[in-house]
Amino acid sequence: MEKVAGTVGHTSSNSHAVRERMSRRKNLAGLVAATVVCIVLLYASQRYTSNSYGTEYFRPRERPANLRMLNSHKYYGSRTYGGAAGGGGAGTAYDTYPPMSTAHNSTISIEDVLNYQRALISAECTDSSYGERKLPDGLTPETGGKPTRSLIITTWRSGSTFLGDILNALPGNYYHYEPLLDFDIVQIRGPPNDSVALHNLRHLLHCDYSEMENYLEFGRTHNYLFSHNTRLWQQCVRFPQFCYEPRFLGPFCRLFPRQSMKVVRLRAALVTPLLEDESLNVRVVLLIRDPRGSMQSRKHRVWCPGRPDCDDPSTVCSDMQLDYEAAIELSQRFPQRFRVVRYEDLSLNPYKMTKEILQFYGLPYHPEVKMFLDTHTKQDVGGVSSTYRDSKSAPFHWTKDLTYDEVKIIQDSCVAAMRSWGYRNATSERELYDNFNPLLPYSVS
Ligand SMILES: *[C@@H]1O[C@H](CO)[C@@H](O)[C@H](O)[C@H]1NC(C)=O
Ligand SMILES: *[C@@H]1O[C@H](CO)[C@@H](O)[C@H](O)[C@H]1NC(C)=O
Ligand SMILES: *[C@@H]1O[C@H](CO)[C@@H](O)[C@H](O)[C@H]1NC(C)=O
Repeated sequence: MEKVAGTVGHTSSNSHAVRERMSRRKNLAGLVAATVVCIVLLYASQRYTSNSYGTEYFRPRERPANLRMLNSHKYYGSRTYGGAAGGGGAGTAYDTYPPMSTAHNSTISIEDVLNYQRALISAECTDSSYGERKLPDGLTPETGGKPTRSLIITTWRSGSTFLGDILNALPGNYYHYEPLLDFDIVQIRGPPNDSVALHNLRHLLHCDYSEMENYLEFGRTHNYLFSHNTRLWQQCVRFPQFCYEPRFLGPFCRLFPRQSMKVVRLRAALVTPLLEDESLNVRVVLLIRDPRGSMQSRKHRVWCPGRPDCDDPSTVCSDMQLDYEAAIELSQRFPQRFRVVRYEDLSLNPYKMTKEILQFYGLPYHPEVKMFLDTHTKQDVGGVSSTYRDSKSAPFHWTKDLTYDEVKIIQDSCVAAMRSWGYRNATSERELYDNFNPLLPYSVS
């Protein structure tokens, strides 16, 4: 301290400049520290909320770039604020999550946020660099139109996070992620809980957040209910005062020309009334996975063991077999609006299957989707060939992770379901380790 003072004293003619420089440096240090704290907090919250990635996912999702919300209401309509679920990639962490200006917080209204989002969607959906023509008018509920409604019906650890995020990569998509989360780790197969479940799904697909108290209450304490809905979550992070308000959520949802939904707690037969409802115009993919794969993956989740709907092979496989019987009927009754996909087939052939699935839903194979597949089906560790092998082997980790005894227990409880869905028995530990191919042909017709 003394030394510094002495030094300053000797150059008294410069002392003013030095003091100014030091205080500027202090300010700068403060600013840098504040920025770093913000980034770390946001990064941590992202890490915390993307809890389900890991074995089901090949690589953590990249953060969307290019939203500058600082005084964003001054910039409505600008093209540079396009994508929410992908896009640019050029942005730094700072670009992605700027510290929020609180100065205007109290004066921002729901209408401001809606106007802003309307501009975002319009920019996202019409940017010529995306190669997509302007979305046809009348697709958004707020203009009296019907959005594209894409449902994924599946069960836990069956690849639906992956497929769900493929759909959410499409511009203008609003993602109803796991709308039955508040039902806990249970399957809904019929009365009495199916009526509440269907009530919730119907309300959400109609962007109606009234009479959804349990759902919203759950969301307040569990970020991941909304955080996968990236376009909504971007605004929730900035305007938490609106996030769980039906008077915000309803109009916000009605801005979007596309809705997707994935549900792991509802068995397939129960979607019949949704398919019958012409006002919804919903299309459904039933996503199936080898029970040995899903059960292996569930072993590593804290929430599954001890919950029979999740960890008991005969319960799980009885649901699978009932889903098969429902699938036969539904694909007959609704050939244009219901289909099945096996997770293994999607993973082995991600580009081809994704195109097929999008076509089924009536959605474009958009460059954003291609970019998503490019960044999420390959692992950048060690060379081209390992990349290739890694993306294809993800659904088959169970062959290395389960002992033959464990495999046998599942197989013995799953005879009908495995036969129906085309999964081959393994007959020895050795066979499992020797590049076991579990896939057989199957048919629901
Ligand atoms: C904005 O104000 C609300 C209360 O009205 C508060 O909960 C929220 O944290 C504020 N947001 C920011 C980013 O300061
Ligand atoms: C489902 O129904 C049972 C009664 O069979 C009830 O105890 C339970 O609370 C219901 N769960 C929900 C989430 O409504
Ligand atoms: C698979 O193995 C079980 C016994 O674990 C047997 O009952 C079943 O018939 C086998 N399935 C096929 C398709 O061979």
